[in-house]
Amino acid sequence: MVAKTQIGKRTPAINGDIKTKNIGLRGVKVADTKISDVDGENGILIYRGYRIEELARNSTFEETAYLLLYDALPTAEQLKEYSKRLTEARYLPGFVVESMKQLPRESQPMDVLQAAIPLLAMADPELTRETRESNLSKALRLIARVAEVVAAWQRIRQGLAPLPPDETLSHAGNFLWLMSGIKPDPETAKDFDTALILHADHSFNASTFACREVVSTQAHMYAGVAAGVGALSGSLHGGANAQVMKMLIELQEEKDVAGWVRFQLESGRKIMGMGHAVYKTTDPRAKFLKEMGIRLGKKLGQEQWNRLLTEVEETAMAEFEKRGKTTIKPNVDFYSAPVYHMMGIPHDLMTPVFAVSRIAGWTAHIIEEKFGDAQEKPALYRPSSEYVGNYCGRTGCAYMPVPRRK
Ligand SMILES: CC(C)(COP(=O)(O)OP(=O)(O)OC[C@H]1O[C@@H](n2cnc3c(N)ncnc32)[C@H](O)[C@@H]1OP(=O)(O)O)[C@@H](O)C(=O)NCCC(=O)NCCS
Repeated sequence: MVAKTQIGKRTPAINGDIKTKNIGLRGVKVADTKISDVDGENGILIYRGYRIEELARNSTFEETAYLLLYDALPTAEQLKEYSKRLTEARYLPGFVVESMKQLPRESQPMDVLQAAIPLLAMADPELTRETRESNLSKALRLIARVAEVVAAWQRIRQGLAPLPPDETLSHAGNFLWLMSGIKPDPETAKDFDTALILHADHSFNASTFACREVVSTQAHMYAGVAAGVGALSGSLHGGANAQVMKMLIELQEEKDVAGWVRFQLESGRKIMGMGHAVYKTTDPRAKFLKEMGIRLGKKLGQEQWNRLLTEVEETAMAEFEKRGKTTIKPNVDFYSAPVYHMMGIPHDLMTPVFAVSRIAGWTAHIIEEKFGDAQEKPALYRPSSEYVGNYCGRTGCAYMPVPRRK
């Protein structure tokens, strides 16, 4: 038996796929979208045409979610109605909470969230209805309840009962209350709301693509979202924020931060929270979170995080420069980690908090995919691959019965 490539019988390239393989689909446009766009050269992110800076300064998470899902900013009446429906959908079905109570307390919060998504599916009265309206309702329930699940797990794992949602609080404020048992002050709730806006969508990132790929098979929205949660958990994607915080905690005791950074890079390790598959300049979300982190650090007497980040950033950038890698800059996770820490969010809840926001983008993309909104008609994703494994010609390898195998 020989590897297929060794006998020179490669499958001919279809649509040039030989050129695009094993590159993580970088630069490959797999679909059209009307939801968001990342201009990596100029550091610009837009949701439905609006720049992220504009939304972060003026909008709310509820309004931004509506924009992503309905392709227009809501009128006052529409926003009131949408916010009311979101508030009403906050309550978790009893069997979801009871099931979560059965899980081992040390379970990773992202695993708990991923396990809870099919439970939420079972509680959705419109699960098998595939109209646009029913999918928009499913999206609304998911936006409300992903936040509830993440906060409830924080209580359950401490042996505490989940708290009832507070209908007077915004989506952001209610999450902080449910997670901590403390009603947030308006400024903290607003900062968290801004962080949720900044994370709500990001075109065809790995988790969004996972959601879209799954529902392209006509699977329901919850199946797509469960895949998205799984993809987000990885440390090269949403998991990076928790890794950044781990680094900062470690560096608190480090006398030679610059030496630590150099050692990491010389050992072939990555500096978490730096670099991006699309941005080749500063991530526009990072700018906002950096400013927020500096402000919170001053207010709470925790300026050490920004000091450490600045030293890591400056040293890493100088080292990257020496290696000719001038496009690796801090990304959103570099600055969100200390911001979340200062808001009292436990470190292993930082990635689930990313999902609390990104669920708005995931569900908008799932609807766009299901209804072919940006293309002629929906299409099943089915890329091709090149077989480079064992090959015995077109007749295939001879099967050897077990007793005769050596
Ligand atoms: C996000 C990420 C995967 C994007 O990577 P990319 O630019 O598409 O491609 P690569 O990972 O192949 O990086 C290209 C080169 O830069 C290096 N590089 C990229 N990010 C780096 C980082 N944070 N620290 C050290 N080196 C890095 C890679 O090691 C690679 O070097 P090589 O060519 O010598 O092998 C990458 O920057 C990364 O792993 N960052 C850290 C994790 C993170 O913060 N993820 C959250 C993203 S929002």
